[in-house]
Amino acid sequence: MNVTYDFTGKNVLLIGGTTGIGRATALAFAKSGANLFLTGLGREAGAAVVKDVRDSSGVEIEFAEVNVRDQKAMKALHDRAFERFGRIDVAFNNAGIPGKTAPVQDLEESDFYDLIDVNLKGIFLGLKYQVPHMIAAGGGAIVNTSSLFGVMGFATTAVYCASKWGVIGLTNSVALEVARKNIRVNAIAPGSVMTPLLSGMFGSEQSAKDTVLPMIPMGRISDPSEIANLVLYLSSDAASFITGQAVVIDGGGFVAGADSL
Ligand SMILES: NC(=O)c1ccc[n+]([C@@H]2O[C@H](COP(=O)([O-])OP(=O)(O)OC[C@H]3O[C@@H](n4cnc5c(N)ncnc54)[C@H](O)[C@@H]3O)[C@@H](O)[C@H]2O)c1
Repeated sequence: MNVTYDFTGKNVLLIGGTTGIGRATALAFAKSGANLFLTGLGREAGAAVVKDVRDSSGVEIEFAEVNVRDQKAMKALHDRAFERFGRIDVAFNNAGIPGKTAPVQDLEESDFYDLIDVNLKGIFLGLKYQVPHMIAAGGGAIVNTSSLFGVMGFATTAVYCASKWGVIGLTNSVALEVARKNIRVNAIAPGSVMTPLLSGMFGSEQSAKDTVLPMIPMGRISDPSEIANLVLYLSSDAASFITGQAVVIDGGGFVAGADSL
């Protein structure tokens, strides 16, 4: 695949960038010339992304392990990123967990808050600190990670789905709040992407394949780099009139609807 963007001189804050989609997006931004402030869980994984970025590009990169559940840590992270780069042009709010996969009656209150704290509150906190900075800086682009499960339901993942529907509500509303401030806010809604999260949701890589492949008209699970390309597109001037959208990227699963299940 040969897709090229030019983010030379731009600074990107990437939350949830140590593995999977976030890691692939960090590498794609770096290849396109963007400096990176990278966060997520897992110091070793973070250090590995930093090494890969430095080995493959000349951009600046800093990693900090930050838990998106923690408001104080999220504020400190944003202050540090603004201080380090002066201006953050793009924010990618991508941290997420699969949570427990089970029918609703088998979920505890703690399972509910586990998912909502990371998948929804984490994105709320990102927006809360990114928006004033971008207003003061005169503009920017924000991309939030929802899911195909943010536009449909799926048995045994009710709260994951609710968290991801919530991400689209946040995205649409904040997009309207900043529409005249030269800030665009969009969401991505990926179908199945081969990452640790997908294996975790279905128990193993093989079980994930067995469950989801029959539902994907294109007949394959996507690679994280394909999702990264969408994030770069939505963050770029090529998407200058796109805001408040949740872009589904799923090999045709959503339009096939219930017929594919
Ligand atoms: N893989 C899929 O099929 C798929 C489909 C649709 C949406 N998504 C979404 O894509 C996003 C990335 O997931 P992925 O598939 O790349 O999985 P992944 O597990 O590889 O990546 C998740 C990232 O979020 C970070 N993270 C998790 N909990 C965190 C916390 N409390 N604080 C800070 N960071 C935290 C992890 O460190 C990691 O960097 C998630 O929001 C997920 O819900 C994934």
